[in-house]
Amino acid sequence: PQRVILDMDPGHDDAVNLLLALASPELEVLGVTVVFGNVGLERTVRNALVTREVVRSGVPVYAGAHRPLVNPRISAEAVHGASGLDGPHLPAPTRGVEEGHAARFIIEQVRARPHEVTLVPTGPLTNLALAFRLAPDIVPLVRQVVWMGGSTDTGNWTPAAEFNALADPHAARVVFESGVPLVMFGLNASHQCIAGPARVQSFRDLGTDVGEFVAALLEFFAEHHLDRYGWDGGALHDPLTVAWLLRPDLFGMQAMHVQIDTTDGPGAGRTVADVWRVTGQAPNAQVGVKVDADGFFDLIRERIARLR
Ligand code: BDR
Ligand code: CA
Repeated sequence: PQRVILDMDPGHDDAVNLLLALASPELEVLGVTVVFGNVGLERTVRNALVTREVVRSGVPVYAGAHRPLVNPRISAEAVHGASGLDGPHLPAPTRGVEEGHAARFIIEQVRARPHEVTLVPTGPLTNLALAFRLAPDIVPLVRQVVWMGGSTDTGNWTPAAEFNALADPHAARVVFESGVPLVMFGLNASHQCIAGPARVQSFRDLGTDVGEFVAALLEFFAEHHLDRYGWDGGALHDPLTVAWLLRPDLFGMQAMHVQIDTTDGPGAGRTVADVWRVTGQAPNAQVGVKVDADGFFDLIRERIARLR
């Protein structure tokens, strides 16, 4: 199996991504590293533990950064509720986090398994940036980074910036300038994947506790998208990452040079993507541009159906 570390800020779509990975024998989840993001670190950590509890998984969970490298912290209670995982019944975790910082865990694992570990961040890139700065030797040893964040077009937190990029642009810049093999799924891809009522119902129809958990997550997640965009469901951003690892045939990718705007103006946090190759700079990322949305949701449902 491919070895992965999921770095996340759960978050409804982060939680679905974790369940998708845990249900997939093609992947070995070495650990979950948690970062601040949708809500504060205390809650994102708890939500990782809660999600693990739903499927009684023993995957280790490590706490990481509680704030961005430079900027003040932002958060997204408006999208994910006060808990960060509002909607379903949340079981109380029976186990806590492991000792040690998330960045340290990433460093140890990459050093122990050179060229084998894929990092899958679905929140601000702070933990990865810390790891890359603390231990630059690991950068060429990482198999690849598969990130949900940014956008080749408009943002969702400002007109220019997507939430994960805006939440720590300096960290994103460290990762994008590191030379690590990089795959990016931004809003331009995730906005093709709307979890409308029929797709939500298909999870409920599984008739399992985990199917109900996912359906309840998606229902709550839909509310913000209804209000803001007039869509009939939430854009299921984060699971694009694990889905791509499992079924790259569902995606259209394009190599691009992507720069992160770390200035303070209206473009702050923008992932400036050279779609038309006007800069002459060599691509530093494979960027998701097209998604077979039905295939994507079928895959997730088929995997969630395996979980009890
Ligand atoms: C991203 O921001 C968070 O709210 C989601 O979990 C996703 O990672 C989308 O902009
Ligand atoms: Ca996220």
